[in-house]
Amino acid sequence: MSDDALRLGVLISGGGSTLANLVERIADGRLRRVEIAQVISSRSNVRGVELARAAHLPIDILSPAAFGDADAWAAAVASSLDVGRVHLVALAGFLVLWRFPPRYHNRVLNIHPALLPAYGGTGMYGRRVHAAVLAAGERESGCTVHLADHEYDHGPIIAQRRVPVVAGDTPEALAARVGAAERELYPEVIQQVADHGVAWLAERAAASVDRTG
Ligand code: GRF
Repeated sequence: MSDDALRLGVLISGGGSTLANLVERIADGRLRRVEIAQVISSRSNVRGVELARAAHLPIDILSPAAFGDADAWAAAVASSLDVGRVHLVALAGFLVLWRFPPRYHNRVLNIHPALLPAYGGTGMYGRRVHAAVLAAGERESGCTVHLADHEYDHGPIIAQRRVPVVAGDTPEALAARVGAAERELYPEVIQQVADHGVAWLAERAAASVDRTG
């Protein structure tokens, strides 16, 4: 691992499509000066763990159920990232609310498959998000990269990518279109952090809050 690269921690709970995309883009050179220094999965028997192992990435399985309480689990997640000397954390299909310690404030990103603040929050993940967008008759959807805080899908928006809703869309069709946008947007934001430093996120977040009031 080179010294000046952005050291990324990736937190997963499931299929690992977000992780796979980052691995691919680092390998083919589209994502530059970024290294995945630590993967953490909240579940052991998921495809994302297989993907991390196949890519020879350091991975810890930290299941909340294996810890006495939520605080102990949250501290174990932070310790694993500390060991990996992680600069930036990317939540990637991570389904557990991580109440991170202050030293990770403004250093945890999340990607959500909708245009937050709409269609986010507790229980709003996966197919449910797209079904809700379609049920509401929305003409467009998209994805959002935001700084995570201690609430689901909350925190200052860093970037969004919009996609059209097409007549006759099923949740699966919309998920595929949003997923393609996610696979572009997340690496774009991570590249900006690699190029400008983690402090860029706080500056961007401040501008975002000013914009949304
Ligand atoms: C994506 O919809 C992403 O927006 C959300 O988790 C889904 C991907 O999960 N955060 P995974 O990377 O396939 O596990």
